[in-house]
Amino acid sequence: MLRIEFGDQSLECPLVVGTENEKAIDISQLRSKTGYITLDDSFGNTGSCKSGITYIDGDKGVLRYRGYAIEELAEKSSFIETAYLIIYGNLPNKSEYDLFSDLLTSQEILHEGFRHHFEGFPNNAHPMAMLSAMINAMGCYQSDLYEVEDGVSRFDKSAAQLISQVRTIAAAAYKMSIGQPMVYPYPEKSYAENFLQMMFSLPNKHYEVDPDILHALTMFLILHVDHEQNCSTSTVRVVASSGANLHASCSAGVCALWGRLHGGANQGVVEMFNKIKNSDYTVKEFIEKVKKKEGGAKLMGFGHRVYKNFDPRAQILQKAAHKLLDKAGKQDELLEIAQELAESALHDEYFIERKLYPNVDFYSGIILQAIGIPLNMFTVMFAIGRMPGWIAHWKEINENSKQRIYRPRQIYVGETIRKYIPVDKR
Ligand code: SDX
Repeated sequence: MLRIEFGDQSLECPLVVGTENEKAIDISQLRSKTGYITLDDSFGNTGSCKSGITYIDGDKGVLRYRGYAIEELAEKSSFIETAYLIIYGNLPNKSEYDLFSDLLTSQEILHEGFRHHFEGFPNNAHPMAMLSAMINAMGCYQSDLYEVEDGVSRFDKSAAQLISQVRTIAAAAYKMSIGQPMVYPYPEKSYAENFLQMMFSLPNKHYEVDPDILHALTMFLILHVDHEQNCSTSTVRVVASSGANLHASCSAGVCALWGRLHGGANQGVVEMFNKIKNSDYTVKEFIEKVKKKEGGAKLMGFGHRVYKNFDPRAQILQKAAHKLLDKAGKQDELLEIAQELAESALHDEYFIERKLYPNVDFYSGIILQAIGIPLNMFTVMFAIGRMPGWIAHWKEINENSKQRIYRPRQIYVGETIRKYIPVDKR
C-alpha cells in the first residue's frame, strides 16, 4: 500500500506489481476519495492498463511477445506464426497453424466492390489515407462481428481478413498508382512471398523472389508486430473501449501510426538521408543543425519514449541491412550516411545525455528501399506488420468483462464564466 497525504486528507493506494516486477500505484480511487486528479502530459508516467501481450524493458533493450524474445522470433519464426502467437497467446501447433493459415488464405481476395474505392482516390493519394479508409470499407463486407458460423467465430474471420487483406490492399494501391493491373494473391505462397508477387509481378513477367529479400521482409514484419502501449496501439484500445468494432479500431490505428513522430518516421528517415545526400552540408553540419533545433530539425529514427539504451529491433535491422546490401554488392550511399550519422550522434554529448539511440525506424527504410518498396509505402509496411498487434489489443480489451470506456480527465485553464454580449454591443 502507498499512503498519499496532503493537508488533513490521506489516501491508501494499492501497489500493483507485474509478472516482470514492474510496479505501479493504483490511483483509481483518487478523485472519488480526494477530489484530486493526477496530471501527466503525454502519459510518460501513466499506465493505461494491465496487458499480457508484450513486455519491454527500455533500460535493458528487452522486447518479448507473449514471453518470447524478439531476437529468437525474428530469426526462427514466420510472420503468420508470430501473428498467431501475439493474438492467441501461444505458438500454434501444426494443426492450429494450418487452420490459421487456411483462414488467412480464404480471406485474401478483396471483394470486387473494392475496385470502386481504389478508383475513387486520386492517383497521388497517400497509401496511408487509402489504407485507413479501405479497412473500414472492408468491415462493410463483414456482417456482425460476433456471429459464429461453421465453427469459426466472426472475430477469427475478421482478424484473418484484416491481416490478409491489408497486404492485398497495399499492393493493389501501389499497382493502381503506377497504372499497372492488380495482381491477385497466389493461395499456395507464404504471406511475405505473396506480397512481393502482388507488388512486383507483371502480367507478362513473373517476379522471382530472392530468398534474402524474402527473409529481410519477413523479419521486418515480425519486428513490427507489437510494441505494447505505443501511440497507435493506445488509439486502437481507446476506440475499442467504446465498443467500436475491430475494423473501425484498426482503421483509427492506421491514422495514429501515420504521424512523423511515430510510424511515419521510417519515411522521414530516408527523406532525411536523401536531404543530406543532395545537400551541400556534411553529416556533421547536419548534426549541429539538429542540436540547435534549427527549423525544428530532428535526427529522425533516433530517440524513443521507452528505450533509453538501445532498441533491439534497430540492432537486428542494422545487421539485416548490411547483409542484404553486401550480398547485392551494392555500395548503398544511404547506408553510409546512416552509419556516419549514427557514429556521430552516439559519441555526441547532446544525444548521450538525452539517451537518444537509433530506434526501429532508423535502418528499416534502407531495407524497404533495397526490397524496392516505394518511399510513400514505408509506413504502410509498418501498418501491415503491426496489424496482428492491434488485433491482439482489441481482443484483450473485449475479453475484459470489467473494461470501462477510456475517458481521461483534464485541468481546465481556459476563460472563467463570462456573460453573453450581443454582437452590436461588442
Ligand atoms: C516509433 O512508442 C513506441 O513504442 C513507438 C514505436 C513502436 O514500435 O510502436 O517504437 C515506433 O514510433 C519509434 C519512434 C519513431 N520516431 C522518430 O524516430 C522521430 C524522431 N524521434 C523523436 O521525435 C522522439 O525521440 C520520440 C517522438 C520518438 C520520443 O519523444 P519523447 O519521448 O516525447 O522525447 P522528447 O521529444 O521529450 O525529447 C526529449 C529531448 C528533447 O530535447 P530538450 O527539450 O531536452 O532539449 O530529446 C530531444 C528533444 O528535443 N530529442 C531529439 C530527438 N528525439 C528527442 N533531438 C533530436 N532528434 C531526435 N530524434
